[in-house]
Amino acid sequence: MAKVTGRPDCAAIVRPASDPRFGDYQANGIMALAKQLKISPRKLAEEVVARLDLGDICEPPEVAGPGFINLRLKPQHTAEQLLRINADQCDRLGITPVPEAQTVVVDFSSPNIAKEMHVGHLRSTIIGDAICHLLEFLGQKVIRQNHVGDWGTQFGMLIAYIYRHAMVAQGDGALLITTVLDLTDIEGMYREAKRLFDTDPQFVEESRRFVVSLQSGDKSTLEDWTLICDKSLAECQTIYDRLGVQLLRNDVRGESFYNDKLPAVVADLENLGLAVKSAGAVCVFPPGFKTKEGEPLPFLIQKSDGAYLYATTDLAALRYRVNVLKADRIVYVTDARQIQHFQMLFKVAEMAGWNRRDGRTVELAHVTFGSVLGEDGKPLKTRAGENVKLRELLDEAIERARAVVEEKNPDLPPAQKGKVAEAVGIGAVKYADYSNNRTSDYVFSFDKMLAMDGNTAPYMQYAYARVKSIERKAEGKGVNIPAELGGIGSLDLEEPTELDLGKHLVRYAETIEAASADYRPNYLTAYLYELAQKFSAFYTECPVLDAPAARRPTRLLLCDLTARTIRHGLSRLLGIQVVEQM
Ligand code: ARG
Repeated sequence: MAKVTGRPDCAAIVRPASDPRFGDYQANGIMALAKQLKISPRKLAEEVVARLDLGDICEPPEVAGPGFINLRLKPQHTAEQLLRINADQCDRLGITPVPEAQTVVVDFSSPNIAKEMHVGHLRSTIIGDAICHLLEFLGQKVIRQNHVGDWGTQFGMLIAYIYRHAMVAQGDGALLITTVLDLTDIEGMYREAKRLFDTDPQFVEESRRFVVSLQSGDKSTLEDWTLICDKSLAECQTIYDRLGVQLLRNDVRGESFYNDKLPAVVADLENLGLAVKSAGAVCVFPPGFKTKEGEPLPFLIQKSDGAYLYATTDLAALRYRVNVLKADRIVYVTDARQIQHFQMLFKVAEMAGWNRRDGRTVELAHVTFGSVLGEDGKPLKTRAGENVKLRELLDEAIERARAVVEEKNPDLPPAQKGKVAEAVGIGAVKYADYSNNRTSDYVFSFDKMLAMDGNTAPYMQYAYARVKSIERKAEGKGVNIPAELGGIGSLDLEEPTELDLGKHLVRYAETIEAASADYRPNYLTAYLYELAQKFSAFYTECPVLDAPAARRPTRLLLCDLTARTIRHGLSRLLGIQVVEQM
C-alpha cells in the first residue's frame, strides 16, 4: 500500500476472514486509505494486489466487495508451519518470546482479608492469573502483586471485638487467636463487630483506639493484627492452590505495606500544587471528572481527621511499582465498579509525572470484569442472602463433577475418578468464567459448566483425553509416535478437514498474542473450542490408525499437535488440569 500510494503510514489491517469461503485472512485497510486520498477503493485495491508479492505464503490475492483484499494461505505454507511447530522441542509450539522483555506488574486477586474469600474474588483471581501466564509465556517479566486489604478500620473493629467479647485481657489475644479461632470465627466476629460499630458509639470509640494504636505501631496490637492476617492469608492460599492459581505468600504486598509512604504522597502532591484543602480534607481535582451536579469531582487523599484513603494507598503503590519494582507496565484487575477510581488514579499519576521513569511513560491498564450472577439474574448469593464462599463453591463443583465422571466412565478406578472429578470440577468453574467475555456479567450455572458438550471444560478435557487415547491405541499397535513424528520431512494436507485443522493449529500463536494484548482469555477458550471441533471433523473423515501408510504420519502429527495445543492452552495458560483418560 505504501508503495502504491507513497504513504508510509498506512495500515493493511489484516484480520482473520469472517467467512472461510473468502479465504483465510482479509486486509481491510484499503477503504479508509482510499477515502483519505479521495480515490476509488476498488481501484486502489486492484493496484495494491497487482504489486503485492506474498510469494510462497498465499495464493494470488483477490479483491472483493468495495475494496477488501482476500488472502488464502497455500497448503504448502501451512504444512511448513506445522513441521516447524512439530520440531519445537521446548514445549513452546514454535512461538518465540518477545525480543525485549517488559517488566509488567499485575495487581490481581487482592481480597480484603479478615473475611473468607467469596465468589466476588473469583474473577480477579483467575483472570489475573491467566493474564500473568499469557504475558510470561510471551516472554515478559511478570511481577505478581496481591494488594490485599489488610489495614484500616475493619482491623480496629475486629481487635476491639475480640477483647470485648472473648473475655481475655489485652496481651492474651494472640493466644486466643492462634489456639481457639479459625477464620470462620474471625469472619463471624467481623460481622458482629460491624453490627456493633453501626449501633454502639462506645464500640466505635474502642475500635478507633485500636486503629490508632495499630497505626502508631503498638506492639501488642500489631501482634494481634499479624496473627489475623496470617490466618486469613493461609486460608486464601488454600483457595489459590485449589484453583491452580500461581500466587504465593511472597506476592502479597498489602495496603499495610504502604502505610509509612502515605504522608509523602500527600506532601508531594501539595508541593506540586496539585493537592488542595477542601472542607478540611485534602484532594486533587483531575480535569474531566465531574459530580452528578457538574461540579469538579475530588480524588480524596486525606480526610479531615487525618486518615488516608484507598486512593492514597494506590498512589503510593503506583510510585513503588514504577520506581522500586521498575515496572514498564502496570495492569490492575478489578471489577468494573472501580473504573472511575482507576481513571482518576491514572490521571493524577500523570499530572504528578509519577507514571514516568527515566523519561519513559509507564503504561497503566485497568482490566475490568462484570459480575457473577445467580440464575435469577442478580449477583450470586446463598439462599440466606450471603456471599457464596469460594471454598464451598469449589467443593460443590467437585461433588457435581464426580457424578458426571461416574456417568461417563463408571469403570474408572475410584482413585482416578477422584482426580478426574477434581480436575473437571475446578476446571469447569474456571473455564466457564474464562469463556465469557470478561466485561459482561454471566450467570453461574453448574449444569451448563459441567455439560459434556458445548464450550465447557469437560468437553475440552474430554477432547484432549480422546486424542490421547488415539495415541495410546497407536502405540498399542506398535507405532513409535516420537520416532514417526521426529523423522517426518513433509506433510500433505490433501483432505479439506486436514487442511482446515492444520491451518487452525498454526493460528495458535496469533490467538495468544491477541488474548494477551486485549487481556481476554475468552479468545483462547474460543480458539480451543474451535480446535476441538475441527479435530472432530477431521477424525470423522480421516482414519488415523488405519490410514494408508503414506498418510499416517501427517495424521498422527495433526493428532499430536492438537493434543499439545489443548494441553498448552488449558493447563499452561489457563491453569486447568488435563487428564489422560476420562
Ligand atoms: N481490595 C480491593 C477490593 O477488594 C481491590 C484492590 C485492587 N487493587 C488496587 N490496587 N486497588 O475491592
